[in-house]
Amino acid sequence: MSRIVLRDLTKQFGELAVVDPLSLDIEAGQFVSIIGPSGCGKTTLVRVIAGLEPATGGEVEVDGAAPIEARTHKRVAMVPQHPGLLPWRTVRANARLLLDVNRSTNPVDAVAPETLLDEVGLGAFLDVFPHELSGGMQQRVALVRALALHAPLLVMDEPFAALDEITRAEMRVMLNRLVEGKGVTVLFVTHSITEAVALSDRVLVSSPRPTRLVADIAIDLDRPRSADVEDDPRFVELCAEVRHALHRGMNA
Ligand SMILES: Nc1ncnc2c1ncn2[C@@H]1O[C@H](COP(=O)(O)OP(=O)(O)OP(=O)(O)O)[C@@H](O)[C@H]1O
Ligand SMILES: [Mg+2]
Repeated sequence: MSRIVLRDLTKQFGELAVVDPLSLDIEAGQFVSIIGPSGCGKTTLVRVIAGLEPATGGEVEVDGAAPIEARTHKRVAMVPQHPGLLPWRTVRANARLLLDVNRSTNPVDAVAPETLLDEVGLGAFLDVFPHELSGGMQQRVALVRALALHAPLLVMDEPFAALDEITRAEMRVMLNRLVEGKGVTVLFVTHSITEAVALSDRVLVSSPRPTRLVADIAIDLDRPRSADVEDDPRFVELCAEVRHALHRGMNA
């Protein structure tokens, strides 16, 4: 698990301010979602935290070290919006991809991708190629590719955005099952209020660009969570709270 600390973080692309001075403390082992309007800077923010993009000002720490260090030591795994599977690698080989590069930095307790593929229902598809999979199945391979690193920080950027609502609902339940109780810190970008509330311990709501937090909402729903959590009156209340915060941010 990783603790993330931001102190007056800023990010600009030339003259364009994408992240205003932002300070934040994310407790290790928490599932935190970031929700906000399109173009507000969510991807940029999580890329800075994942060590893929330098900050302009301020400080970012992942377990007390610079994000680039966490990244080099495979202590952060990323699931992008598009699965980005290599068409010439089988499901099994795609799932191993991050383990196959810079092997010396692999954690000793890396999880066998085959075990995880089985857990996400792809046990019978190990030797097929990505074009033989549905979109939901491809996204599950991308999730396994990241989880196999056993990294203490998992960064997910709208991983289910391209999926239909039924598959998305299944993915929420599956993701909760995979990370609950595992001690991993998850930073999850989404446009879906339902997704944010169903998955998170905490939801951060951003204003339009530049990213500024307009709300920080604790999601006090019991775990483990099944699909039924979405029928809980408290779930509905929390979704309304996030929706109102988004509206406030848009009109601020
Ligand atoms: N590499 C880059 N160079 C210049 N500008 C960029 C770059 N990446 C992002 N931007 C700009 O930063 C702003 C925020 O982009 P970002 O992708 O972080 O938004 P987002 O909140 O993830 O949006 P969405 O919800 O649509 O994915 C946009 O105005 C975008 O044009
Ligand atoms: Mg984005």
